[in-house]
Amino acid sequence: MKIGIVLGSIRDHRKGESVANWVLDVASKRTDATYEVIDISQFDLPLLSDEVLPAMRHKSYDDPRVQAFSDAMDACDGFIFVTPEYNHGIPGAFKNAIDLLGSELNGKPVAFVSYGAAMGIRAVEQWRQIVANFNMFDIRPQITFGIFTDFDGPKLTPSERSDKDLDGLLDVLVPIAAKLAA
Ligand SMILES: Cc1cc2nc3c(=O)[nH]c(=O)nc-3n(C[C@H](O)[C@H](O)[C@H](O)COP(=O)(O)O)c2cc1C
Repeated sequence: MKIGIVLGSIRDHRKGESVANWVLDVASKRTDATYEVIDISQFDLPLLSDEVLPAMRHKSYDDPRVQAFSDAMDACDGFIFVTPEYNHGIPGAFKNAIDLLGSELNGKPVAFVSYGAAMGIRAVEQWRQIVANFNMFDIRPQITFGIFTDFDGPKLTPSERSDKDLDGLLDVLVPIAAKLAA
């Protein structure tokens, strides 16, 4: 069982890196799955311009950068999207990354860890609508952080309660991922 922690900000000095690493630290104490950060900035992904719909590509892409991202996502049984909120919505680069894919996501569960001036809640509500198009199962428990209260510069300063909340989220996500994978 493998859960991908998808880091969806590509900005210099992004806060998202610290959030994704915290998710990995807490999750790695568990024995129910392996956990890996999938950092979209590492794939140098192009803007979607392929005339063939990604869903019709069946996980086989001409662009090696997209293929590498596809392979990384396809290897996962479920996901945690680590998402900031930009302009009351989801980050464009993250949406583009997901737009590049098709069946790698289909029928898999996804949970959300969000952050922003307003905790990223609006971004997650948008993500829940978007992932429905892949028949993904969005998990109800959600972790939120405020950039004015939960960070020291770019570094996340999570409370013990956040660690427990994340464990609770994983208690829901992982069994569903296992059932769906079976
Ligand atoms: C272009 C842009 C728009 C933003 N708009 C919002 C917003 O609408 N609501 C919000 O809560 N935070 C907003 N923020 C604040 C971000 O949530 C905050 O900068 C956060 O650190 C971004 O994540 P990152 O550092 O991982 O990229 C915005 C930030 C940027 C760069």
